[in-house]
Amino acid sequence: MTVTINPLDAACGAEVTGLDLSGSLDGPDLEAVNRALLDHLVLCVRGQDLEPPAFSRAANRFGQTKKQLLRQRRHDAADDVSIISNHKPDEKGGDGKPYVGAIYWHTDDSYLAEPAKITMLHARELPSRGGDTQFINCFAVLDAMPDEMRRRIEGMRAVHVYRSRRGKSRVAERTEAERSETPDVVHPLIRTHPESGRKALFINPNRIDHIEGQDAAASDEILDELYEFAFRPEFQYHHDWRPGDLVMWDNRCTMHRADPEFDQRERRIMHRVLIEGDTPY
Ligand code: OGA
Ligand code: MN
Repeated sequence: MTVTINPLDAACGAEVTGLDLSGSLDGPDLEAVNRALLDHLVLCVRGQDLEPPAFSRAANRFGQTKKQLLRQRRHDAADDVSIISNHKPDEKGGDGKPYVGAIYWHTDDSYLAEPAKITMLHARELPSRGGDTQFINCFAVLDAMPDEMRRRIEGMRAVHVYRSRRGKSRVAERTEAERSETPDVVHPLIRTHPESGRKALFINPNRIDHIEGQDAAASDEILDELYEFAFRPEFQYHHDWRPGDLVMWDNRCTMHRADPEFDQRERRIMHRVLIEGDTPY
């Protein structure tokens, strides 16, 4: 099989065909996918059908997979695979009604000192229409940023917390053990990509509480302005899911969110794996 990479959008995103992730992934194929991820930030590998252990094995080719923080979402057959579903019957803090999580712009795991470098989502059940995943290219955001705004944030760091004062998402409750694993952390607003050296805006509107050393009012003014700029449509790619899609993205230079606009009587179920990352700088 020949691996082919086709760009999907001007903002970011490419489709990978001719790759079966249940087989052994190595040499030139692995290199091609890693290269494409650096170039396109979001990749959709078409036509996969991976049970959780096979998904975990494939994901481990891209780095060390992580066990997910929230125990109740871990899959029984592989503890580094978690279940993202709009029907969560027994989730703590839930009311039993279907709901879609992650509907506000964010990057995964930024409340940790070493946020995940890659997230992989594999579609298992899709609604008949709607429910796409949307991405922002944060290199492009920084490149297009007016000088004045960029100078203002240069060198600034933001405090990321699990349950932010500003967060709008419904955030799952943590157990005592999960809580002690997730103290507040500080990350730079401009992040250097460790592989390419390119700089990206590194924000997480869900988890940033304030800018280090600034009070809430001063922080809010800067953050509101930054977010409004970053959310502009020209930086976005919207991924319309097809059965068999496995989408992976680089969390160091993108944001994403789920689109909740679909019939909530239908199920939207994804399997998800995170790959370990390092300290942002
Ligand atoms: C995630 C996430 C978005 C989606 O799993 O980290 O944000 O479209 N998912 O389900
Ligand atoms: Mn996410």
